[in-house]
Amino acid sequence: MNQLEQQQIKNIEDAKKLLAKRTEEVKRPLTFHVTTFGCQMNARDSEKLIGILEDIGYVWEESEEADLVIYNTCTVRDNANQKVYGKLGYLNGYKKKNPLMKIGLCGCMMQEPSVVEKIKKSYPFVDLMFGTHNIYILGELIKKMLEMDLGITEGDRRIISIWDQASGIAEELPTERKYSFKSGVNIMFGCDNFCSYCIVPYVRGRERSRSPKDIIQEIERLVADGVIEVMLLGQNVNSYGKNLDEPVTFAELLKEVCAVPGIERVRFMTSHPKDLSDELIEVMATEPKVCHHLHLPLQSGSSRLLKEMNRHYDKEQYLALVDRIRNRIPDIALTTDIIVGYPGETEEDFLDTMDVVEKVRYNSAFTFIYSPRTGTPAAKKEQVPEDVTKDRFQRLLKRVQQIGQEESAKLTGATAKVLVEQINEQDDSLVTGRLSTNETVHFPGDESLIGKIVDVELSECRGFYYIGEMVD
Ligand code: SAH
Ligand code: SF4
Ligand code: F3S
Repeated sequence: MNQLEQQQIKNIEDAKKLLAKRTEEVKRPLTFHVTTFGCQMNARDSEKLIGILEDIGYVWEESEEADLVIYNTCTVRDNANQKVYGKLGYLNGYKKKNPLMKIGLCGCMMQEPSVVEKIKKSYPFVDLMFGTHNIYILGELIKKMLEMDLGITEGDRRIISIWDQASGIAEELPTERKYSFKSGVNIMFGCDNFCSYCIVPYVRGRERSRSPKDIIQEIERLVADGVIEVMLLGQNVNSYGKNLDEPVTFAELLKEVCAVPGIERVRFMTSHPKDLSDELIEVMATEPKVCHHLHLPLQSGSSRLLKEMNRHYDKEQYLALVDRIRNRIPDIALTTDIIVGYPGETEEDFLDTMDVVEKVRYNSAFTFIYSPRTGTPAAKKEQVPEDVTKDRFQRLLKRVQQIGQEESAKLTGATAKVLVEQINEQDDSLVTGRLSTNETVHFPGDESLIGKIVDVELSECRGFYYIGEMVD
């Protein structure tokens, strides 16, 4: 354990004692809730926050009517920010009913100074703010908060701690996984790509890869704790390892991860098309543990716009890459992200995007309306009129959904391996699981199957999911 970790473990221990005192004082257990916005990185960060809070002794509460509520925020598009501002109003309502309640904000929005100023000024009921680079000091922040509550220290009741860059990686702090049998694993943090529309490099900082040794050790610990599927996480996993003292490629790391005994499935996210190597395609084709699903964000089909977006590939290169992948892994499910209405997008540019959608035939696609982000180069350019963007968005969405349904139905009648994740949310005689291709399957079963990989006959495809029957 390094010094950073030791210090934080000590802070968690201190906070635990203070919370015990506070619990005695208020004569009931204190509850908490964490709400996550945004991507898989944030979801993984929330597991770390929850782990720390449970260690301190807070009790998880399903609803947001808790004594401590933390929003882990996202700022990739403006609607993510608006959601947070909207929901803060509700939280304030709960706080008026419960004087013990504390409200915390963390995550990507907090790395924008203008957002922090706005919260300070217009949302005085927020008690705690921290950023993406220091979630691991949550124990320290809670300790400070409890010291004030107990009257041990005085001062500004509001705690704000935001760092503009990362310092070290704390590896061994408590985390509480959402699922017992699968887990995300950060292999790198930050992003150096600076796509012209994107705020992530500004709020997540420079690209940093973890060492293969630390990653493998974490996965071994996860296996010992019951995990059989891991999702390797990074904004651009294909550039993993380039800046390590001893450079390693992502394909090499993937092979090492597959070799960990007890791991049965490996996924990863996200792959930038510009540096997806043939070496990686080869590992995906030959390692049976690597799932046959690849998320390959297109953003736009127009070579002209791709250049403006700073994506480092054009339409032809993207299509050629898809061909190479499909030749080697014919049953792969491809999914993507597409932006509509990027500044200067013409009808011709948009038709190029539609053309790629027709040619690639994605199993599913996340489609986004371009959202200007302050500080990014694209935000200063002339925007496409809203009615034009909306019309294009509808046309794209319609085709993406039709094709997605057709592609998703292709396995009808086949028998495939399913990792059972949970009891079906609507019908408790069914369980829900995922195929290697990431598609969802519902079939009769019970709790004893959760976390197991079983063979299921995919009898019927209904839109984007299958109804099936387990086979012995
Ligand atoms: N690192 C990943 C993407 C992370 S953000 C990658 O490069 O693929 C997830 C998606 O949000 C992006 O793929 C993009 O499609 C979308 N996005 C990012 N910034 C956006 C913006 N300003 N407006 C609309 N969509 C955006
Ligand atoms: Fe954003 Fe581009 Fe980095 Fe993805 S690769 S996070 S889209 S800057
Ligand atoms: Fe959002 Fe931050 Fe992820 S901006 S998409 S939560 S990295």
